[in-house]
Amino acid sequence: MKIMVVGGGGREHAIIKKIKENKSVTEIFALPGNGGMKDDATLVNIGAKDIDSIVKFAVDNKIDFAVVAPDDPLVLGAVDALNAVGIKCFGPKKDAAIIEGSKAFSKNLMKKYNIPTAAFEIFNNAEDALKYLETAPIPTVVKADGLALGKGVIIAMTREEAVDAVKSIMEDKIFGESGNNIVIEEFLTGPEVSVLSFTDGNIVVPMISSMDHKRALDNDEGLNTGGMGTIAPNPYYTADIAKECMKTIFVPTINAMKAEGRTFKGCLYFGLMLTPNGPKVIEYNCRFGDPETQVVLPLLESDLLDIMMAVADEKLTEDMVKFADKSACCVVMASNGYPVKYESGFEITVDNDFNDNLYIAGAKIADDKLVTAGGRVLGVVAVEDDLTKAIEKSYASVKKVHFDNAFYRNDIGAKALKVLKEGK
Ligand code: AMP
Ligand code: GLY
Repeated sequence: MKIMVVGGGGREHAIIKKIKENKSVTEIFALPGNGGMKDDATLVNIGAKDIDSIVKFAVDNKIDFAVVAPDDPLVLGAVDALNAVGIKCFGPKKDAAIIEGSKAFSKNLMKKYNIPTAAFEIFNNAEDALKYLETAPIPTVVKADGLALGKGVIIAMTREEAVDAVKSIMEDKIFGESGNNIVIEEFLTGPEVSVLSFTDGNIVVPMISSMDHKRALDNDEGLNTGGMGTIAPNPYYTADIAKECMKTIFVPTINAMKAEGRTFKGCLYFGLMLTPNGPKVIEYNCRFGDPETQVVLPLLESDLLDIMMAVADEKLTEDMVKFADKSACCVVMASNGYPVKYESGFEITVDNDFNDNLYIAGAKIADDKLVTAGGRVLGVVAVEDDLTKAIEKSYASVKKVHFDNAFYRNDIGAKALKVLKEGK
């Protein structure tokens, strides 16, 4: 079988490596992929948003199955376009991908179907938003409606910050058209949990839970990033909480999308906050998370491609999805200065005795060498029997990967370990 994976980051590398385990796979194409994947996939120089070229490539090369991984092509309708020429895909159609593509849509969905989330108001002009802020509870959270590379959220600790946030999103358009509408919502507190799930629109099967580390620096300081590391499973996410989330959030969301005529098929990502009033949805993503995927998929014991094809055929069953009773830790090695300004082009080398998982995100081949070409360069992932060992092992492996200006957090998993040891 010929498989095509759209996307080019560490998440896609993890998906490709897992799909490769399926014996019937003869070739995997990555569009565009990155130089660090060249031993695992055939790289095709077509951007993930270039839907026409993606469809043409798939037809010309008789692709049997396509995986569309990033949010942009999903929201633009890549799956609709591929299905229209008879190519089966893993990923939601455009009318379902809107669950991530518009926060106003997802908030209204949750309200209509009683799915727990932060209280909110939606505005389509700055004047009304600023008026609302005169009496709104503070702190508050201001979110651009559309996609903004995961950066469209501003937590305002004071009324002035909230006013600045509204002005910069709606008047200065710092997130472009994504900020034409905004959501202003209640500030919630509590541990965050990421739960990715497989759903064929009829049933939803959650994957093992994980914890992202979004801030650039140790102790959750510094700027928000795309994610500096992850661990799985997330110790805050107990069996009781999982049961509650299934009943109050996961199943109701799948059913709500179906009832709206927007059946969701693919990976639905639930970004949750475990508040004193129970688990609430912070955000939905219409795709695998990055770098959550890098810790979740190595723990998946079942065949990923079989699951993805069952999702596309609406034949998913619970027993198809089995996870190992182990732990994983991903430490992201970034370019110093990320997420603001950084240099690229430094050679990446890996010691011969490196024996964990390496998922490359921001790299390319230049003069036959692998060199850095992005903010988040790669993820080092260890899978071990428990979290302590997984953290130790991944940091030991980080020392075996070298490039100039490398930067990483030293405390990935530290909070999770504390919870395991002290129960908080
Ligand atoms: P998002 O892009 O929606 O995932 O938001 C980015 C981050 O902002 C989340 O991971 C949370 O840490 C934080 N956040 C978003 N919404 C809220 C909220 N209502 N209350 C508190 N923190 C929030
Ligand atoms: N790690 C968060 C995301 O993929 O959006």
